[in-house]
Parts: sequence; structure tokens; C-alpha cells
Amino acid sequence: MRRHAVLFPILGTAGVTETARAAPLQDALHAYGIQAWHIGRLWNFTLALCALVFVAIVAACLIALWRAPRADAKSTPPDMTSLIRPERGIHRTVAWAVGAATLGLLALLAADVFTTRALGRMPLENAVNIELTGHQYWWEARYLDPDFQRQFSTANELHIPVGRPVIVTLKSKDVIHTLWVPNLHGKRDMIPGRTTTMQLRADQPGTYRGQCAEFCGLQHAMMALLVEAEPDAQYEAWAERQRQAAPAPASDAVRRGRALFLEKSCARCHTINGTGATATQGPDLTHLAGRKTIAAGMLPNDAGHLAAWIQDPQSLKPGVYMPANRMRPDELHDLVAYLETLK
Ligand code: CUA
Repeated sequence: MRRHAVLFPILGTAGVTETARAAPLQDALHAYGIQAWHIGRLWNFTLALCALVFVAIVAACLIALWRAPRADAKSTPPDMTSLIRPERGIHRTVAWAVGAATLGLLALLAADVFTTRALGRMPLENAVNIELTGHQYWWEARYLDPDFQRQFSTANELHIPVGRPVIVTLKSKDVIHTLWVPNLHGKRDMIPGRTTTMQLRADQPGTYRGQCAEFCGLQHAMMALLVEAEPDAQYEAWAERQRQAAPAPASDAVRRGRALFLEKSCARCHTINGTGATATQGPDLTHLAGRKTIAAGMLPNDAGHLAAWIQDPQSLKPGVYMPANRMRPDELHDLVAYLETLK
């Protein structure tokens, strides 16, 4: 597969290799999908042209300084000749400069139009359809399917098949958010009461970090999204797992944990398919344990962070809508043990 590396023409970049990528990538200068490649090409062209203009202006200033007659305030009379006879040479230079600036701006406009057209021409056969809804401060993802039974929801982590188009329908529940996964595409606003779409395709497997790119409140900076691009078979297996209900508890602790989840306030906001919990205020937790992070990319998904998060989310991420949940240590242990089984 072709690697659409967008090269930074002035500074240069170290090539990012597959082996060197442990952390998720969030880098607009390295395209891992065709759409980001188109945008990167536009950026390269704009940067090159603007750099050229900058160099030309600095050069013109230096030449003007170099050629200016040396004088001092006392002994040199002011040169007033330009008031008497027109400066033909200057007029000609200004006319050339205006012409060159107009051509440059037209070239940028044309490049912009061609890029927009290229972005709209990505083939969409066999596309994966995802409805992504922005919340303060997390991402709700619903994988759409004509067969309603095959639809499923997840949060803060998208899985997509490499080489297949993905149509993301963007919505918002509260304020304006912006989806931005720079390695795969540019930014697109998520506006309350409106629906927009973004078409993207990952051409290389990998983990790409997305970020909310519109200030949406106190925890805007902590509103991240992971995009896992994986081979088609691996993606289909993941999607099939997501469609399953949560497994039944296999031990007493886990059984107590599930009872706590349903009795305490958890079930008022969250869904776990296969239980009585069907609320949609917070993320769907049916397969919580399969995700890499909690709190929208903020914390690693392990028992310790999960317990701390459940007890007092406000101390970790002030301003989120999840309330503190005071419970006994043994209760917390059982609840976390249950959540850890939701693979
Ligand atoms: Cu959501 Cu910023």
C-alpha cells in the first residue's frame, strides 16, 4: 500500500515507521489516509508559495536599502523630484507586484477548489457508517446498519477497517464540538441541531488520536478519541463482539458487582446490553473493558483508574457530568470486578 507521507518542505521530518509507533499518532503532517494526504498536499503548496512570497519581499526590502542613496540630515537636501516628474519605474514595479500577487492568490484558490473536489471524490462503496455524537466531554459512536439488530454503540474509541471508506455522520447533544483526527482528515464541526458528514479512509493500520478541536467547556482539552484502524477481518471480529450482550457473571464478586451497578446510580446514566441498564446519558459500557482508555482518552483503562474514576470523577476531570459515587471498599472492588468482565 502506498504510504502518503506528507513531507514538511522546510524543516523536514523524521520518517515515522511502523515499528517506532507505540503511542497513538496525532500529526497533521503525516497522512495515513487519502483525505489527509489531499489536505497535506494543499498545505505543502500553500507553504511553498507563501515562503516564496516572503523571500521575495525580504529580498526587495534588502535591495531597496542597499540601493538607497546615503545621506545625512544636515548636508543633504531632501529629494523632491518624485513630486515633479512621475516615477515610471516604480509604477511598473508596483503593477508587476499586483499582477504577481493576484496570480498567487488565484493559484491558492484553484488549489483549494481542486482539494475540495478531490476530498469529495473518495469512492464510498462498501462503506462503514458511523454516527458520532459529541457530548461534554466524550464521544458517542453508533455503528449504523440497515438491519437494526446489527447496530451497536460504543464510546471514545472507533475501530475502522483499513482500506475501506468510513462515512461519519456528525451530531452534537449540547454545544459545538469539532472532530479532528489529523492523520486521517481535517476538521469538521459538530453542531447541535445539525447533521454533517465526513468521509475518511485509513490506508495504513495503526492507532490515530483524534481531539475535539472546538472549545466546548472546561474539559475541552480532555476530549480525545482513539481511532483503531485494523485489517478488515480483525475489524469484523471486533464489530461482531460489540453486537453481543454483556457476558453473564461467572463469580459471586462479579454477580454482586452487577447488582450494585443496577442498584446504585450507575444504571441511571449508562447502558449495559443484556442487563436492565438502558440509559443513554453517559457512555455505553457493554464492552467497556475492551477499550484502551476511560474518560475520553484521559486515563488508562485499568482497575485502579476505574475505581478512582467511579469514586470521584470530579477530582480527576472537574466539570464532567458524572457525579461522585461514595461506596464501601468491598462494594467498589466488586463493581470494578464486574466492569472488568465487560470485554
Ligand atoms: Cu468537545 Cu471541545
